[in-house]
Amino acid sequence: MNRILKVLFFILTVVIILNFSSGCGKKEIHYGVLGKCVGPYWEVVRKGAEDAGKELGVKVTVFMPQKEDIPQQIETVETWISMGFKGMAVAPSDPEALVSPINSAMEKDITVLTIDTDSPNSNRICYIGTDNYTAGKAAGEKMAEILDSKGKVAIATGSLTAMNSLERMRGFEDAIKNYPEIEIIKPILCDNEETSMAVELAETALLNHPDLDAFFGVYVFNGPSAAKAVEAAGKKGKVHIVCFDVTDEHLYLIDEGLIDATIAQKQYFMGYEGVRIINQINEKGLEAVLDLLPKNEDGDYIIDTGVDVVSKENLGEYLKQMDKWGIEHTFKL
Ligand code: BGC
Repeated sequence: MNRILKVLFFILTVVIILNFSSGCGKKEIHYGVLGKCVGPYWEVVRKGAEDAGKELGVKVTVFMPQKEDIPQQIETVETWISMGFKGMAVAPSDPEALVSPINSAMEKDITVLTIDTDSPNSNRICYIGTDNYTAGKAAGEKMAEILDSKGKVAIATGSLTAMNSLERMRGFEDAIKNYPEIEIIKPILCDNEETSMAVELAETALLNHPDLDAFFGVYVFNGPSAAKAVEAAGKKGKVHIVCFDVTDEHLYLIDEGLIDATIAQKQYFMGYEGVRIINQINEKGLEAVLDLLPKNEDGDYIIDTGVDVVSKENLGEYLKQMDKWGIEHTFKL
């Protein structure tokens, strides 16, 4: 073998070895999960997404803005597109504002689906999460039962644009329409997912409406924030609270009798299934996976993760469920 051939042979061998040691040149698959705000609810979504990532051997980045922040969500989707992510599960703070970034990802063959809250006018493949209208209705029915069909209710939420918030409030108000002696006071208290603001708004509502009978808390910290205000005003047991979600704080507050009932979502599965379904689509192809997904009467793919209504009566049973699902809690009965 002459010298040139020897050198070429050497270079080829090095290239082959390097390729082999870097996973045969296979690029790492990277998915993104975009939440709506930092806090305990989204930490559970993160756990689900990261667990799925580990099981599937793919890289998962989970990000949420500090509080509701539509421009930052748009920027994040655009950044992930430019970084070559192969899929994203997005929870749009505004369903319309996210249409364009979601569609531009889909045009680049990036699998996009929505979790927790939908953007139905976008080209996202499916929505995975709570049926928020029905869950809002269940909250309304529970409220009517607790108030014995009469009283004054304030609604507190973290967003006046996200579809899940709007759907929950629509369901709640529709349920309350059947109880003419229940009045919903306006305006709706909106804190943009800022906890301190949520407490302040609840305190002001109690001051402005000394005859207020209840709060409906739409997002995760609205129930605990209202509970702080109710306790500080010395109105425990007089002002009732029906809200959404379960965190450790909710469990303690239900036990203490400050929260009457909460609609527990299954956000772990939103993160877990989000990553799993994106990966399946990328591995098996869209058509094959769509065949397996539930389709509603409009031909849209909606995966309802379901809810539980949790109150003092079934707290023990619910704790057992949490243990079964591996969701940590410090609260013990
Ligand atoms: C909602 C999320 C929201 C979270 C934190 C949950 O009830 O489903 O959309 O970001 O609360 O406030």
